Amino acid sequence: MSDDFKRLAAVSALEEVRNGMRLGIGTGSTAEHFVRALAERVAEGLEIVGVPTSERTASLCESLGVPLATLDSCPELDLTVDGADELDARLTLIKGGGGALLREKIVARASQRMLVIADESKQVATLGAFPLPVEVVPFGLRATRNAIEAALATFGHDAPISLRGGDTPFVTDGQHHILDIELGQIKDAGALSRALLDIPGVVDHGLFIGIADAAYLAGPGGVTRLVPVT
Ligand code: 5RP
Repeated sequence: MSDDFKRLAAVSALEEVRNGMRLGIGTGSTAEHFVRALAERVAEGLEIVGVPTSERTASLCESLGVPLATLDSCPELDLTVDGADELDARLTLIKGGGGALLREKIVARASQRMLVIADESKQVATLGAFPLPVEVVPFGLRATRNAIEAALATFGHDAPISLRGGDTPFVTDGQHHILDIELGQIKDAGALSRALLDIPGVVDHGLFIGIADAAYLAGPGGVTRLVPVT
């Protein structure tokens, strides 16, 4: 059922795609629905060029005939469409459940607009039930993890941190690892973001703040288009 809602949200967002657009293309199961629907429109004559946010999305686009460019050859994008693991009323997001958060954020920030596509279960009152992914360089992993723990302590968080993949650590497209932090609740996303980014071994984290312009959420009652509550 949730997969049907993901597809519905993805297809709805496609209505904002126009001929000639340079598109950032997200990663994950909802983004895959978007790619499949986009590929059908391309086969019918829609002209777009896509910049994928992961090797996985690039492979899917190539297999379905969606024209691709790199962000280097096409550094300014019109629109990015991507999924999310959680979103709140301000459209602050947690992303990175699929491990692509760094490229996803780079691509979204290079876009004039970002649309989120998700089943409505991803909408929450307070972010943090979904573990926050933090992308870290492998060098000095323990020191970085200690520094993250110390930073979290200043926010009163004593949150379990796990290395994604455990003994066989997950490796991102950028050759980094991911630490997942079970925060439970994130009260001040901006302050947490700044504290994490201040740690040298942290490459980026899955909080997307002030990046999403709208969200298509689908559920049993249909699709809702949300814009950020200010
Ligand atoms: C990948 C992501 C995904 O957008 C997020 O995990 C949502 O995935 P799905 O659409 O499969 O629920 O951030 O890094």
